[in-house]
Amino acid sequence: MKCLRHAGHARVIVGANFDGLLFLDKAGELLMSLGAMSPGHVAVITGGASGIGLAAAMRFAKAGMKVCIADIGRDRLEEAAAKLSSAAGDAAKIMTAVVDVTRIEQLQKLERAVQERFGGTDILMNNAGIQPGSQMFGP
Ligand SMILES: NC(=O)c1ccc[n+]([C@@H]2O[C@H](COP(=O)([O-])OP(=O)(O)OC[C@H]3O[C@@H](n4cnc5c(N)ncnc54)[C@H](O)[C@@H]3O)[C@@H](O)[C@H]2O)c1
Repeated sequence: MKCLRHAGHARVIVGANFDGLLFLDKAGELLMSLGAMSPGHVAVITGGASGIGLAAAMRFAKAGMKVCIADIGRDRLEEAAAKLSSAAGDAAKIMTAVVDVTRIEQLQKLERAVQERFGGTDILMNNAGIQPGSQMFGP
């Protein structure tokens, strides 16, 4: 995850606790207290249609942020956007984009689209990915 508008907050670690997700900077300080995760700020989450990405998007939306989720699954994006709009209480604060992060031109288009719609990006959560299945007794 990256904070783009806040010098000194370059890399951010996402951790989990019993209450959900914690957003920490490199020094372990809560990002919330540093100001990037503030009402009106903009969060972009790749792989945001499910799992950890969607959980983070929900936290950002509940914090009053404008949220863009980017993912390859159009149907899941729409379902996720409905949940986020309900959490945000304002559908205008939620944006979706069908993006394959392995395609640089799609990421560049995403950056331009977020700039046009929300005016920039405060937090970029590079979360999209796949987790190869592992077997306890497998090779
Ligand atoms: N869940 C874990 O225990 C765990 C552990 C270590 C790392 N991770 C990593 O954390 C991230 C999120 O994990 P999760 O468990 O929420 O997974 P998830 O499968 O629930 O979510 C990943 C999302 O990324 C999207 N995605 C996959 N390839 C994409 C692509 N090329 N372009 C755009 N979107 C794409 C998927 O459609 C999906 O919505 C992944 O990168 C995963 O590898 C997860």
